[in-house]
Amino acid sequence: MKKFKGTNRRNFMKGAAGVTALLSAAGTSSALAMGQSRGGSSKGYDFDEIYSRIGVNSVKWDNAIRRYGKDKITVPMGIADLDFRQHPAVVKALQNRATYDNYGYETLPSSYYDAIVNWNKDRYGIEVKREWIRNSAALKPGMISSMRGLNPAKGKVILQTPTYSGFKGAVSKAGMRVEMNPMKKIDGRWHMDLEDLAERLDYETKCLILCNPNNPSGECWTADELRALGDLCISRGVTVLADEIHCDYVNKGHKFVPYSSIGEKYAETSITYRSPSKTFGHANLKVAYFYTQNQDLMDATMIGGGHDAGCNAFGLIACQTAFEEGAEWVDDVAEYVDSNFDYLVEYVNTAGNLSGIEYSKPEGTYLAWLDCNGLMEKVSGPEQMRAYHDAQRDAGRRHSGLTREGCMGEWIVQNSGVQLNSGSSYGIGSDGFMRMNVAVPLSSLKTALDSLNTAIKKLG
Ligand SMILES: Cc1ncc(COP(=O)(O)O)c(C=O)c1O
Repeated sequence: MKKFKGTNRRNFMKGAAGVTALLSAAGTSSALAMGQSRGGSSKGYDFDEIYSRIGVNSVKWDNAIRRYGKDKITVPMGIADLDFRQHPAVVKALQNRATYDNYGYETLPSSYYDAIVNWNKDRYGIEVKREWIRNSAALKPGMISSMRGLNPAKGKVILQTPTYSGFKGAVSKAGMRVEMNPMKKIDGRWHMDLEDLAERLDYETKCLILCNPNNPSGECWTADELRALGDLCISRGVTVLADEIHCDYVNKGHKFVPYSSIGEKYAETSITYRSPSKTFGHANLKVAYFYTQNQDLMDATMIGGGHDAGCNAFGLIACQTAFEEGAEWVDDVAEYVDSNFDYLVEYVNTAGNLSGIEYSKPEGTYLAWLDCNGLMEKVSGPEQMRAYHDAQRDAGRRHSGLTREGCMGEWIVQNSGVQLNSGSSYGIGSDGFMRMNVAVPLSSLKTALDSLNTAIKKLG
């Protein structure tokens, strides 16, 4: 039986039974009611635990506290990592490695590759051959090397927006220019705009970054959508760089389709980038991998792009252990996150709550892309923008975040203590949006929403 911080599965399930009985006696099963206490829905791991990340240079927690002060921050819900404890087997493996006190150069053992191959086979049902895989210290460095090797100098790279804010920096680090292909929001879901894309794919454009599931809006692209995109890219000689870092977080009723699985010609013209960093919370262990079956694309990345496939001794152990032992844990976290989304959706859509914010449940990721246009009208008008700019100038901050969404983000922190990511950095189509990371204990989500709701109510 798995033990975790003084508890175990049997005790957990006993607690769960009690909570379930209470809720059914009360005659309700709504997400908001479940939210009073979720108890044992997380089979054996305590994701309800408030686990402090303060004082370890956490970007999410410590940066927010440094900027706004400890008393000001209630729940930071920005950067995409997990507020849960690490998988216990990973911690143990890292502790074991640390006791061997030499950290010189090492090669990647075949067991590391086996773990990746098996994870892909067991979890996504695909064959990824060992010789197709290369290591990377993080996802972006691999992608940057591919862009450098594949695109003409200063060429264009397509981003389908709204999409992950870090892609812009990656494209410019590769020496390329961003070309945005805005998506269309139809009935609450974002759709790729292939007509617009066709017009943008010119002789200067050799790469497109696909984000699947899409950060920030959560679409898990279907095989048909991926093939339609792939057919256009193939017809124009464009390589698809498939970022699938969020692929282990898929909500009930949806499916993740790996780009390399939709057909031979798509696999031949793409490179897939993955990492355990989102899945397991390994971002600072600096380990990621990418694969392609096409040797020319691999050569372009490794030789043309000069990719450094060096590894981090701790990162590779964490990745291997997580892939070997962590499947059930990930299922549990994903289920927990899925329930958090239910809670959030029901909260936002309860009459009188969070006026000015609209939201419906996403298909995947642990990120909520909130349409806050109604709120932005109230808190980012010309006068508030003036005051915001003056305050940022006085604090010596001169950066691209001085937007209406930035101003709204500042209002939200100052008035509720909740820190979100401003939509403005996610490209065209992001006006009035804010991103909220819901991979947090349910009680933190509840505190954040109540706090934000109280602040908004005061606006009248
Ligand atoms: C879609 C996507 N790709 C890449 C990254 C960053 O990955 P890494 O830190 O491994 O470069 C993130 C981080 O949030 C992301 O959401």
